[in-house]
Amino acid sequence: MIDAAEGRGRGKVILYGEHAVVHGFEAVACGLPLGAVARLRPGKTSTFIIEHPGGRFEADGQVLKAARGIVESFGLELEALESSVHLAVPVGAGMGSSAALAVALARAARELSGQGDEARVEEAVARAEAVFHGQASGIDQSAALRGGVFAFRRGAHPGAPPQIEPMQAPALRLVVAQVAPSASTATMVRGVHALARRYPAAITPTFEAIGQVARAGRAALEAGDVQEAGELMNVNQGLLSALGVSIAAIDAACHLARQAGALGAKLTGAGGGGCVVALSPDAEHTRLIRQAWEARDWPCFEFYLEP
Ligand code: MEV
Repeated sequence: MIDAAEGRGRGKVILYGEHAVVHGFEAVACGLPLGAVARLRPGKTSTFIIEHPGGRFEADGQVLKAARGIVESFGLELEALESSVHLAVPVGAGMGSSAALAVALARAARELSGQGDEARVEEAVARAEAVFHGQASGIDQSAALRGGVFAFRRGAHPGAPPQIEPMQAPALRLVVAQVAPSASTATMVRGVHALARRYPAAITPTFEAIGQVARAGRAALEAGDVQEAGELMNVNQGLLSALGVSIAAIDAACHLARQAGALGAKLTGAGGGGCVVALSPDAEHTRLIRQAWEARDWPCFEFYLEP
């Protein structure tokens, strides 16, 4: 076995389609240049440190359970390792920190053990995501494993591979703000399921409309029409509100961003708290959107995604 290993995973932004994607509809997401870096080496004392934009802590609970499962998939024991993960995205805020962490750790474990292939990395990450998120669609893990903008549809039945189509998108200037403490993805997903069971006649068409918005958003991006892509983000936000996953701070952040010149703004991830993403037309409007959000003390991130 080698002395030490490093692995990387990406954070994500969902541009269209969260929640409906769990119910089989199309979504569009991108893997971010920021994410997680995991470092592993055989150690006498086992430690697992997580550093993230808000501080540093020793992993416990769910993280430890998921991490143990990941390293065991590669024939390693967590208790015999010194492990650390550096996260550049905020934890549990809708930017895919758990999937980025799981991918980074699985890649590091694969390198350290010299065992397994990319398929085993994907399986280990899927099991970890189930620990974190319950009934997840797999979109976060797909973004964490790959870069770029892509269309995603979950497998038709549990265990079936998702349909992932890389997309040609124009340059995208995204601004993300964390506007509230995050809610648990598993809880939010369960809440939407419960709503769909109570009001199928209203919620099934809402999922379908979100799927249509994702398809139209994909077409707008592929045609290089960022104006339309932004407008469709606004429509998606309205439909997410109908699912009950927006909150006052998210609504306020979307309105502030649009007033500051964003082409579109919506929550990203499971909602109930967490992050808002805005599509900015140019560097000057990115500055104005940040200014509006930072005046509310919301931490901001800025991404320029190459075409
Ligand atoms: C979470 O980032 C996105 C959700 O659609 C859940 C999932 O797809 O697993 C809310």
